[in-house]
Amino acid sequence: MSLQDKDRIFTNVYGYQPWNLKAAQARGDWDNTKALLERGQDAIIQEVKDSGLRGRGGAGFPTGMKWSFMPKESKDGRPSFLVINADESEPGSCKDREIIRHDPHKLLEGALVAGFAMRARAAYIYIRGEYIREAETLFAARDEAYAAGLLGKNACGSGYDFDVFVHRGAGAYICGEETAMIESLEGKKGQPRLKPPFPAGAGLYGCPTTVNNVESIAVAPTILRRGAGWFSSFGNENNRGTKLFQISGHVNKPCVVEEAMSISFEELIEKHCGGIRGGWDNLLAVIPGGSSVPLVPGEQIRHVAMDFDGLKAVGSGLGTAAVIVMDKSTDIVRAISRLSYFYKHESCGQCTPCREGTGWMWRVMERLRTGDADVAEIDMLQEVTKQVEGHTICALGDAAAWPIQGLIRHFRPEIERRITERAGDVREAAE
Ligand SMILES: Cc1cc2nc3c(=O)[nH]c(=O)nc-3n(C[C@H](O)[C@H](O)[C@H](O)COP(=O)(O)O)c2cc1C
Ligand code: SF4
Repeated sequence: MSLQDKDRIFTNVYGYQPWNLKAAQARGDWDNTKALLERGQDAIIQEVKDSGLRGRGGAGFPTGMKWSFMPKESKDGRPSFLVINADESEPGSCKDREIIRHDPHKLLEGALVAGFAMRARAAYIYIRGEYIREAETLFAARDEAYAAGLLGKNACGSGYDFDVFVHRGAGAYICGEETAMIESLEGKKGQPRLKPPFPAGAGLYGCPTTVNNVESIAVAPTILRRGAGWFSSFGNENNRGTKLFQISGHVNKPCVVEEAMSISFEELIEKHCGGIRGGWDNLLAVIPGGSSVPLVPGEQIRHVAMDFDGLKAVGSGLGTAAVIVMDKSTDIVRAISRLSYFYKHESCGQCTPCREGTGWMWRVMERLRTGDADVAEIDMLQEVTKQVEGHTICALGDAAAWPIQGLIRHFRPEIERRITERAGDVREAAE
């Protein structure tokens, strides 16, 4: 069953009401937050664990468990920090910006609750540089929260001191990777760190740090208010809760919508997007989780549960739930080649397989696009993706490899057709 309005967390995602504090409070935000904090750190973490919330930034790591990795006390005087990832640069992803634009107080209250639970001194919200209006709203909302005594010294009258800093990035996809984000916050070049040490041990300024996505943090106060049982009543086992889906491409009405996890692809599209452009027979393929996950052919995705496990079962992933729909007018080889160019452009360059491999893969993809290649190069390209995947410091290498692997897995005949036709054209021209 799909989600009813009464069960939506983001009740102002379309901005029908103002984002400001007064309107947010009327929607239930910042309602006796002190009482939430009085439950204590361990109880908050347990509730989030019980809710089944998994990180909404792509990897789906259990949120409560992540918070529990933070130290319960500082043995050497180092403070702990929460870093909130608002970089949202994954092609297709456009949900965190809607939260910040229209419901920034959900994020700020979440920052306090989550920061308190992990005994953090402050939260740093790292927002993508291009999100100019969103950053303006966030700064203004933060000022309102400080002025009302909700943040800062004795936040919400709880006796807990908690600051929130908003930091604007300069527009680099790699700064969305958690350790690159930490480097960037420290004023350095945004390049991922080798792990270990993990951020929970030594993160921002060498202090224990947790990095969480905007949506993961923004849903936390509602989970505490309505209870873990309510949140986990949505979605399949291991894939609980509600989720912001962002559907773009060849549907009749692209949109961002909060739905129950595990909704079927067909229901998501029919209910919220007015169907596929030209009907279901016109569906070619779907990239269901943002550009980093492999595509799924149209005929395989229709009845799939839109969650971590459902999409894994068809060789893809939920990622950020940025669903890119492509109908039969799409030049699929060109589309994936364009994504390869993106990864080549965004590689930070510090590891050889990624720095060299992303450029190499893009150049071959371009030749596959025009057909100026040899059929044997398809296997060679597949082999190179395997040499990049899993051999790099961060997951950008995997993200560059997977879309190509998906293309070869499902559209090999189309790639071969181009090569054969192009060879025919060249022969004809020579005769
Ligand atoms: C290249 C790259 C880009 C990423 N970009 C983002 C991003 O824009 N936003 C985000 O929340 N997570 C992004 N991530 C994932 C983060 O590293 C991290 O896993 C996430 O912020 C954790 O939050 P969560 O546990 O709440 O999902 C990216 C990862 C990689 C490898
Ligand atoms: S995988 Fe790519 S983006 Fe990630 S650290 Fe290595 S070179 Fe940089």
